[in-house]
Amino acid sequence: MSFPRHRAALDALAQRGRLRQRATTAGLDFASNDYLGLAGSGLLVRAALDALGRGVPVGAGGSRLLRGNHPEHEALEAEAAAFFGAEAALYMGGGFQANQAIFSTLPMQGDLVLHDALIHASAYEGMRLGRAECRSFAHNDAADAARVIAEWRALGGPGRVWIAVESVYSMEGDLAPLSALAELAAREDAVLVVDEAHATGVFGPQGRGLAHGVSGPLVTLHTGGKALGASGALICADKVLIETLVNRARPFIFATAPAPLSAAVLRASLMALQDQPALAEGARQRMVFVREAARACGIAAQSQIVPVILGTDHRALAMAAVLQAQGFDIRAIRPPTVPKGTARLRVSVTGSVAEKDIAALFAAIAAEGRAAA
Ligand SMILES: Cc1ncc(COP(=O)(O)O)c(C=O)c1O
Repeated sequence: MSFPRHRAALDALAQRGRLRQRATTAGLDFASNDYLGLAGSGLLVRAALDALGRGVPVGAGGSRLLRGNHPEHEALEAEAAAFFGAEAALYMGGGFQANQAIFSTLPMQGDLVLHDALIHASAYEGMRLGRAECRSFAHNDAADAARVIAEWRALGGPGRVWIAVESVYSMEGDLAPLSALAELAAREDAVLVVDEAHATGVFGPQGRGLAHGVSGPLVTLHTGGKALGASGALICADKVLIETLVNRARPFIFATAPAPLSAAVLRASLMALQDQPALAEGARQRMVFVREAARACGIAAQSQIVPVILGTDHRALAMAAVLQAQGFDIRAIRPPTVPKGTARLRVSVTGSVAEKDIAALFAAIAAEGRAAA
């Protein structure tokens, strides 16, 4: 059997410079989200071996609501709730599923999900499946968020507002105006939903995230596969919301539970954040260095993620290829992952690079920029 329509769609993507491939890994890691260098660390290898030695199973064998629930899941959730300062936590297989669960389940009919225009694809996926109305506000613009709520209320919007943002934007590397949004949430009796995927382990006290300490009703998402070096995701919230997810969230109910072994490894990551402040401190110091290096290229970086905007897909691909040939693992990010006309390099400063590598990368970017000018 052949699939001519699929073939034609793929050919069209290739023509526009948008065909994606599973690339092999080579060169210095400026592409992953392993911000603390934990993913391949001895610390997590030892945690896995120790867990296996204690008899923690590799697979769960079923849904958490059937026989798949394991004491490692429950211990992780209790420790995560305490660490992130929430009433309760729920461990999911990944951040994508977690966002699907949050947005398809918690906002109810008659509610409004008011989301930043650049929110992650997984949040959109949840909104698509949910019953609430969804509107966006201009990226990082709390005043625009207030305007959209007022508009919605004026049209008779009856329910609760859920304000959804990322604390560190995955492709922009900029930070949400959390204090202004928390004030807005307080005024509107809204819930703030903060995806901390790129902040956990890096920002906040001992890597607890940027929403740590924000008052008012709060739902946070902490992914395990980025700075924490493992896998899965933790949703932290009020007990009643977590119980709602357990009873209503289809990505939680109708899925095999995450591996108990993964829960055990993630527990070790959280413990390391708590016991080894040098981890988050190291990330912060790399960030200070990156900010300086990026400034020399005319880029105002706010986090460990630095976008080098190039415009066209072909320019981004060509520049990535030049840097890859010099030994830097840098990837071109193209629409629809980022808005049209903003194809870019996403420089991600991971825990496995040294300051001299960062300096060399930005020198190479600057040199390429001059050559192209
Ligand atoms: C902001 C954000 N949220 C959620 C996710 C999904 O997390 P996971 O990779 O654990 O599924 C990602 C990953 O790309 C992300 O960048």
